[in-house]
Amino acid sequence: MNPLLAAVVTISDTRSLEDDISGNELVKLLTAAGIEIPVRRSTTDDFLEIRDLLVSLCERDDIDLILTTGGTGFAPRDNTPEATRAVIEREAPGLAEAIRRETAGSTPLAMLSRGVCGIRGSKLIINLPGSPKAVSECFGVVRGVLPHAVALIRGDKPH
Ligand code: MTE
Repeated sequence: MNPLLAAVVTISDTRSLEDDISGNELVKLLTAAGIEIPVRRSTTDDFLEIRDLLVSLCERDDIDLILTTGGTGFAPRDNTPEATRAVIEREAPGLAEAIRRETAGSTPLAMLSRGVCGIRGSKLIINLPGSPKAVSECFGVVRGVLPHAVALIRGDKPH
């Protein structure tokens, strides 16, 4: 199978790509998993900005996955889940459920992420929380199923 291709999107009003420690952590984890990263972007927490960026990434031919970090909490400007919901056509609740369930043992604060996962066209979008520690814990939960998930979305695999 071809290597998986991922976009990394950092969502924050305060961080840019220059001091993007969570995005850097995600790039490190993806690379270690053999996943290539043809595109990396950052956006503010603005709903429309996030939504439009996700839609434009979904139109690219060179990615399978979009992994976001940040903006999933309870603060007034945490708009990532709403923007992701506005973009996806099919929700993948099992991924978001597993992320919260499997990391709750490491911190009860896992309950405070409202991250959403879902599919638009042939792209899988996964929201991760916005700290490097959370990125590492949460990505570790879904990493193993990503090749199978992408193969199903591509139509490469019978069930
Ligand atoms: N999930 C895991 N596994 N580990 C963490 O450290 N941090 C939590 C939560 N999910 C955390 C986690 C915290 S403190 C918050 S506020 C929410 O994710 C939302 O974070 P975000 O708004 O940066 O996305």
